[in-house]
Formats: sequence, structure tokens, C-alpha cells
Amino acid sequence: MSKMKRAMRTMRAILVVLLVAASPAAASPIRCHHDDIAALAAIGAAFGGYCSAWTQRDPECCGGGIHCDPFTGRVTDLAVFQDANITGTIPDAVARLVHLRTLKLHHLPAISGPIPPAIAKLSNLTMLIISWTGVSGPVPSFLGALTKLTFLDLSFNSLTGVIPASLAALPNLNGINLSRNRLTGVIPPLLFSKSPDQASLVLSHNILNGSIPAEFSAVGFSQIDLSRNAFTGDASALFGRGKELQILDLSRNAFSFNLSDVELPERLTWLDLSHNAIYGGIPAQVANMSFQTQLFNVSYNQLCGAVPTGGIMGKFDAYSFQHNKCLCGAPLANLCK
Ligand SMILES: *[C@@H]1O[C@H](CO)[C@@H](O)[C@H](O)[C@H]1NC(C)=O
Ligand SMILES: *[C@@H]1O[C@H](CO)[C@@H](O)[C@H](O)[C@H]1NC(C)=O
Ligand SMILES: *[C@@H]1O[C@H](CO)[C@@H](O)[C@H](O)[C@H]1NC(C)=O
Ligand SMILES: *[C@@H]1O[C@H](CO)[C@@H](O)[C@H](O)[C@H]1NC(C)=O
Ligand SMILES: *[C@@H]1O[C@H](CO)[C@@H](O)[C@H](O)[C@H]1NC(C)=O
Ligand SMILES: *[C@@H]1O[C@H](CO)[C@@H](O)[C@H](O)[C@H]1NC(C)=O
Ligand SMILES: *[C@@H]1O[C@H](CO)[C@@H](O)[C@H](O)[C@H]1NC(C)=O
Repeated sequence: MSKMKRAMRTMRAILVVLLVAASPAAASPIRCHHDDIAALAAIGAAFGGYCSAWTQRDPECCGGGIHCDPFTGRVTDLAVFQDANITGTIPDAVARLVHLRTLKLHHLPAISGPIPPAIAKLSNLTMLIISWTGVSGPVPSFLGALTKLTFLDLSFNSLTGVIPASLAALPNLNGINLSRNRLTGVIPPLLFSKSPDQASLVLSHNILNGSIPAEFSAVGFSQIDLSRNAFTGDASALFGRGKELQILDLSRNAFSFNLSDVELPERLTWLDLSHNAIYGGIPAQVANMSFQTQLFNVSYNQLCGAVPTGGIMGKFDAYSFQHNKCLCGAPLANLCK
């Protein structure tokens, strides 16, 4: 788009803003506060003249990605998504929407640059999603200022550096997805130590290393996905009867521990341990897993002994057990001696 055209689009956006702001709210289905309308216009302008319709009278415009509080008129939720035409960086103007509770920037592949420090001013933010974008730089430690945050999804970006320890201080945070970036370093030991139950941690497809913090044995996880990293050591602390864990994916790391005495959480329905260096045997209790179980995969490890029989074992084929040191028995072709 030419500079001229973009300028026109921006001008038009600003004009519409002025018109809407000047007219009484009665006829407009979006009765947003004028300060917030101005902030939205600034955001739209920073995004290359995006979405002048935000300020028009169609509540469905731009996918209906704005919610204004019906009483105060303040913008509490903003979602911009699925638009490859939006360019630029995340503007500081976002911080002018001080009443925001949720901010979602999803599938905007042409936006780039770092996550701006201005985001830390959004003190009422409970959900921050910046995913499938070209955003780069670190996972900022200033996110530790967002004390109301419950869910942080920065997946599918180009973020580098370490996971900041400041996230561990967030008392309400119970969902983190940093998958598909280029993050390095170790998991901060106290992550989720203050969180309520049903925590979800998704760190797949990074370059993270080190071992699982011992502190994690006390966290009430429902989902953990650490697949495709370079983690090492013992992951057995994640297991245990009575835990609420439902999904555990540790595949494609270098975990190494004895699986024999591990106790499976009763609600586990997805267990992928493939491509590690896990040894010992498959606990007989696997056969007692829930019939809801969708995946059980221990292939490409160092396991030995008989594959358990009975229960749900009929659901799994040889591909769940292949390439181990000396596993035997059905569904594998080699019989136990
Ligand atoms: C993106 O720009 C192209 C070309 O100007 C246009 O055809 C398309 O509709 C735009 N897409 C969106 C989502 O605005
Ligand atoms: C933040 O939330 C609290 C409680 O819901 C509310 O009283 C306060 O006005 C909000 N602050 C802003 C800036 O929206
Ligand atoms: C990140 O993980 C969370 C928790 O599993 C999930 O709800 C969310 O959809 C994921 N985000 C993306 C972009 O896939
Ligand atoms: C993690 O990898 C980095 C190199 O990327 C290395 O310097 C560091 O020692 C590794 N840490 C652990 C705990 O393996
Ligand atoms: C794994 O643990 C079991 C039970 O404690 C033990 O019998 C076995 O020798 C261990 N396997 C290895 C390879 O250390
Ligand atoms: C499997 O469940 C049955 C019935 O609850 C129980 O008797 C048995 O001990 C369990 N087996 C294992 C290996 O946990
Ligand atoms: C288990 O994982 C291996 C290795 O990634 C894969 O080849 C196989 O298809 C998986 N099996 C099932 C049942 O998902």
C-alpha cells in the first residue's frame, strides 16, 4: 500500500472517530468511552490504518473484537486476529486502554518487534494472548507486574531468551503457553508455586534445557507439555496417584528415569513419553488407566520387560511401544522369553 493510501485510510479512521465521538451514543451500538475510541484509532493507525470500522456503527465489524462495558463505556476486551495485512509493531497506545481485561493479538503474521513495556500498565489484564505473530525479543520480565493475569499465551512467535523468573510471582496465573518460540535456559523453579490448581504449562518446540524443578511435585497441574526441547533428568515427580494431571507430553527430550515405580494419576488421558532415555519397565497400572485415554506412547526409549495386558491395553498398537531396549509381548512381535 502506498504511503498516500495509508494516510488516507488513517485520515478516514480519524474522521469517523471524530464523528462518532461527537454524536450522541444513542444510535451507536458501540457506546465506547471517547478516550478509548481515541486510543483505538491510535492503535489502528499504528497498525497501518487498520479497521476504521472499529469506530463505525457495526458491532460485528472487524470480527466484533471489541467489548465495551455497557455501564462505563470503557473497553474491557480487545481482540485483533487473522489479518495478514496488519503491519507495524504493538503500539504503546494499547496502554491507553487502561480498563482492558483481555488482550488478544492472534494470527497477525506481519506484526513484528518486541512486546512493549507499556503493556505492563494494563494492571487489570487477566488474559494476554499474543500468538502466531512475528513478534520477537524476550518474554519480558515486566509481565510480572500484571498481578491479575490468569492466562498468558505467547505461542507461535519468534521470542528468544529465557523464561523470566518474575512470572513465578504472579499469584493468579495458572495457564502459560510459550510453545513454538526459540526460548533457551531452564524452567524457573518457582513457576506456579503461588498458583491455584488446574495449572497448565505448554512449553513445546523451544530449546529449553535443565531438569524439571523439584518444586513442581507440589503444583496442581492439569496439563504439561514440554515436548521437543532439550530437557534432561528425572520427570517422575510429575506423576503420582491423586494428582489431577490429565495431559502429560514429555516427548522428544532427553529425560532419563526409571518408569517402573511411577504411579499414574487416575485422570491421565494423554501420556506421551516417546523419544527420551527412560528406562525400567512399564508399570502394570497402565492397564488400569481410564477408558477415556486417548494416547499412551512410550516408543523410542530404553524400556524393558513385558508390555502389560488387560484393561485398556487393547487400545494401543505396536507403534506405542516400538524402539525400546527390550520390551516384549503383544502388541509387539517379539514374545517374552
Ligand atoms: C488484505 O489486503 C488485500 C489486498 O489489498 C485484500 O484483498 C484483502 O481483503 C485484505 N485482507 C483483509 C483481511 O483485510
Ligand atoms: C480494575 O478492576 C477493579 C475490580 O474489578 C475495578 O474496581 C477497577 O476500576 C478496575 N480498574 C481499571 C483501571 O479498570
Ligand atoms: C496454548 O496452550 C493453551 C493451553 O493448552 C491452549 O488453550 C491454547 O489454545 C494454546 N495456544 C495456541 C495458540 O495454540
Ligand atoms: C543449557 O544450554 C546452554 C547452552 O544453550 C548451556 O550453556 C547450559 O549449560 C545448559 N544448561 C543445562 C542445565 O543443561
Ligand atoms: C527400576 O526400578 C525397579 C523397581 O524399583 C528395579 O527393579 C529395576 O532394577 C530398576 N531398573 C533399572 C534399569 O534401574
Ligand atoms: C487395577 O484396578 C483393579 C480394580 O480397581 C485393582 O484391583 C488392581 O489392583 C489394579 N491394578 C494395578 C496394577 O493398579
Ligand atoms: C508414538 O510415537 C512415535 C514416535 O514419535 C510415533 O512414530 C508413533 O506413531 C506414535 N504412536 C502413536 C500410537 O501415537
